[in-house]
Amino acid sequence: MEGTHAELTFGIGRILLTEAEIRQRIGDLGGQISQDYAGRNPLLVGVLKGVVFFMTDLLRAITIPVSVDFMAISRYDPQRQAKGSVRLTKDLDEAVESRHLIFVEDVVDTGLTLSYLLRVLRARNPASLEVCVLFNKPAHRLVDIPLKYKGFDLPDRFVVGYGLDYREAYRHLPFIGELKPAVLQLT
Ligand code: IMP
Repeated sequence: MEGTHAELTFGIGRILLTEAEIRQRIGDLGGQISQDYAGRNPLLVGVLKGVVFFMTDLLRAITIPVSVDFMAISRYDPQRQAKGSVRLTKDLDEAVESRHLIFVEDVVDTGLTLSYLLRVLRARNPASLEVCVLFNKPAHRLVDIPLKYKGFDLPDRFVVGYGLDYREAYRHLPFIGELKPAVLQLT
């Protein structure tokens, strides 16, 4: 296991992606975005909190002028509301009309959250809107969303680290690890 995270890795089974693998892939994504968006000053938009780890590393891998903004959401009770519908608890600071937006997301599972947020952004008439996702979990996808920039495909496992949490724990691990089923069953 990398680094000095021994006591934090309680409950982690297999490591699926190391810190070095993640760093290298984000470097590739930053390079691609820099080429594709030269002269367009893109606005990277993310949803707090999990994406901040990916967002900051991605921004530093981008070599053209770029801006960043965040929103925050809370999920509605899925028993009572349409699946995937969310409430914005913090909106963007910047107006996005006529901007080139890249929606940056840490993980996409069913795709319901992402598709809802893309609808919200599209209604504001950006000049363009693409998605950059670091971890793609295609096994339970319910909505087909074009992912222009994609870091890794992950298997159908609950994973933590690099921004992904389990009940707010494990976010700050620098790698992606599988949570032991026993930990999930404790709840
Ligand atoms: P979706 O609407 O099903 O795509 O939900 C995506 C959200 O589910 C993410 O923003 C995460 O909060 C959460 N999520 C999905 N899979 C994982 C995982 O393996 N680890 C941690 N969080 C996950």
